[in-house]
Amino acid sequence: MSCNILAIESSCDETSAAVISDGKILNNIVATQSVHEKYGGVVPELASRAHQQHLVPVVSEALKSSGVDKSALSAVAFTRGPGLMGALLVGVSFAKSFAHALDLPLIEVNHMEAHVLAHFIEKPSPSFPFICLTVSGGHTQLVRVSSHLEMEILGETLDDAVGEAFDKIAKILGLPYPGGPQLDKLAGNGDPDAFTFPLSDMKGLDFSFSGIKTAVLYFLKKNLKEDPDFIARNLEDICASVQQTLIAMLMNKLIRACNESEIREVAIAGGVSANSGLRKALKESAGEQGWKVYLPKLEYCTDNAAMVAMAAHYKYQAGQFCGLDISPLARMKI
Ligand code: KG4
Ligand code: ZN
Repeated sequence: MSCNILAIESSCDETSAAVISDGKILNNIVATQSVHEKYGGVVPELASRAHQQHLVPVVSEALKSSGVDKSALSAVAFTRGPGLMGALLVGVSFAKSFAHALDLPLIEVNHMEAHVLAHFIEKPSPSFPFICLTVSGGHTQLVRVSSHLEMEILGETLDDAVGEAFDKIAKILGLPYPGGPQLDKLAGNGDPDAFTFPLSDMKGLDFSFSGIKTAVLYFLKKNLKEDPDFIARNLEDICASVQQTLIAMLMNKLIRACNESEIREVAIAGGVSANSGLRKALKESAGEQGWKVYLPKLEYCTDNAAMVAMAAHYKYQAGQFCGLDISPLARMKI
């Protein structure tokens, strides 16, 4: 009999469901919450309400388009954390009720591990051990991945996540939410060497991204005093320069992590791994550093349930299930 798992993701502002059958992803239904746009960022309370609204239709669509009947499911998986507590609660409660009603085993998934395991949805997949730079709106982590189930954090941000830095700087520049992809697009037409911003250097393999946000803010304030149209006239160059700085900070630590661990299999994951500049930098490093690099498909960079399903597949194989008394964790370590 096939092993069919329904997976649910609701940690932030995407409501998503996917079905995996014997390790093969059959679909990946994602409902993006547009309600946050007018607020310029995710409003947690609104995210929870939107998950309530979207989850049942998204799960129904995932089951229907997969061709897998409810009665043929082997397990239900969900994102336990990290994420917004109210948002997680919706997915966790739904998954528990669904599993209870159908008497199915339940699998909890760590969202950050799922981002890493998105690399196993399609081939070629990295060989173990590999280094994964996971970059999202909430996290920035350098992870040593020894197996599908064993990961270790080598370094992480001590303040803002890099996606947060992209979004906050984009907001300062007046770009609509979510700012990261908008900044990326504008950067493509700008000169990355037009302006210089400081590269923060934390000890070891940790990161810090709060300094650049402040540096950009002061830089703009100073220039806007002399020229009220400074942003409008230099928007693409500012975006390109900011993006180059953020990527340099990420790449410096990634190179260091690979050199220290002598690992040459290198992956990136998470929402910011969709960034065109970061993808280009990684490909260039492949030649310079002698790395074999892995870039997730764009649909598997940002939050999605396919990656949760992939993680659940490995946990199912290892017999790692959880009880119906489980609760979400806003902070959850790898
Ligand atoms: O992984 P994700 O979907 O959600 C979290 O778990 O946080 O990541 C979302 C983050 C946001 O900060 C968004 O602006 C950023 O990923 N992002 C990008 C790009 N696409 C998404 N940042 C820079 N360039 C992009 N192309
Ligand atoms: Zn994420």
